[in-house]
Amino acid sequence: MAALSQSHHLHSNCFSRLPTPKSKPLRLSSTRVRMSLQETGPSLAVVGVTGAVGQEFLSVLSDRDFPFRSIKLLASKRSAGKSVSFQNHSFTVEELTADSFNGIDIALFSAGGSISKEFGPIAVEKGAIVVDNSSAFRMVEGVPLVIPEVNPDAMEGIKVGMGRGALIANPNCSTIICLMAATPLHRHAKVKRMVVSTYQAASGAGAAAMHELELQTREVLEGKPPTCNIFKQQYAFNLFSHNAPVLENGYNEEEMKMVKETRKIWNDMDVKVTATCIRVPVMRAHAESVNLQFEKPLDEDTAREILKNAPGIVVIDDRSSNHFPTPLEVSNKDGVAVGRIRRDLSQDGNHGLDIFVCGDQVRKGAALNAVQIAEMLL
Ligand SMILES: NC(=O)c1ccc[n+]([C@@H]2O[C@H](COP(=O)([O-])OP(=O)(O)OC[C@H]3O[C@@H](n4cnc5c(N)ncnc54)[C@H](OP(=O)(O)O)[C@@H]3O)[C@@H](O)[C@H]2O)c1
Repeated sequence: MAALSQSHHLHSNCFSRLPTPKSKPLRLSSTRVRMSLQETGPSLAVVGVTGAVGQEFLSVLSDRDFPFRSIKLLASKRSAGKSVSFQNHSFTVEELTADSFNGIDIALFSAGGSISKEFGPIAVEKGAIVVDNSSAFRMVEGVPLVIPEVNPDAMEGIKVGMGRGALIANPNCSTIICLMAATPLHRHAKVKRMVVSTYQAASGAGAAAMHELELQTREVLEGKPPTCNIFKQQYAFNLFSHNAPVLENGYNEEEMKMVKETRKIWNDMDVKVTATCIRVPVMRAHAESVNLQFEKPLDEDTAREILKNAPGIVVIDDRSSNHFPTPLEVSNKDGVAVGRIRRDLSQDGNHGLDIFVCGDQVRKGAALNAVQIAEMLL
């Protein structure tokens, strides 16, 4: 329900995109509202509910009929008091404070790394299981970094009701989308080396970036200078190297996330990964070109069959009509699409494949993956 479409304004419109409440508005102030029909589920908190991922959390919780007995919607002081419709009720957004987590079982965080670093440990201390979308804890030893279709074992034993809090990290969105497709092939033939080139959408940089792309597009078409608040350069009708900070080794942080997180998720410190991450003026959903080198041979027909049977994967690979995955086709969808499945001619025998992958990174790359993790906590 709260899905962000390719053409929507974000910050200004994110509440109006939710359905109008059909029943009398239910107000949430300092206490949590009890949803009458779901009295046995966990108590939830959504941190960063006004953002791109936060809005998608509400949509995914609804779509998957996630059971909960209460829900608390949290954001910054700026949003406190605003009204959000969710499941035909109107909720009031509360300011995130240290007291926000009293009595919370599961806290879904998507308010940026510094907020996670400050409030994640507080929530855990109060007994909540935190599923964090930021990069704050991903590489911390002992913190499971989980894609449910790939490495559910990493969070084994962590359950609501176990008597203590815990932290689980959601991987980087590009990493999730890449590994959804690469892992079934890796299980079959073991990936030795992976070369990834990304084409990343505005939504990956949050609600304000989506708004800026839309605004700039209008401005450029009207012959006006583009407003550059979120990105330092013109985004509409352009593309550029990912805006993450560039490190001493020449890679940017987004690229190094792909390298490090893949090793942790696959529990394989030897896999060689390199990435080039690019922002493209697409509103929503990332695309990635992935080149794989295998230890064992894997021909393209077998690879196609493996992918067709892989959970969460949709194969779109129609050579005769030149129809392959696009960001538009996967927007607001759960599945990650894979196509352009072909033998890499530059590698000997059947030891190399090229694939092209598209996935909605606000959904499978963030909110959906986190809610799937939350489902495994029940
Ligand atoms: N966008 C994606 O595709 C994606 C994918 C994977 C992971 N992530 C991660 O998810 C997080 C959120 O991303 P986003 O794209 O949803 O960003 P966003 O659209 O900019 O939303 C940020 C959210 O954080 C809240 N926030 C900011 N400062 C706060 C504070 N001091 N206290 C409480 N809440 C505060 C904002 O509330 P206000 O509205 O009140 O400012 C808003 O709800 C980031 O860590 C990002 O790296 C994003």
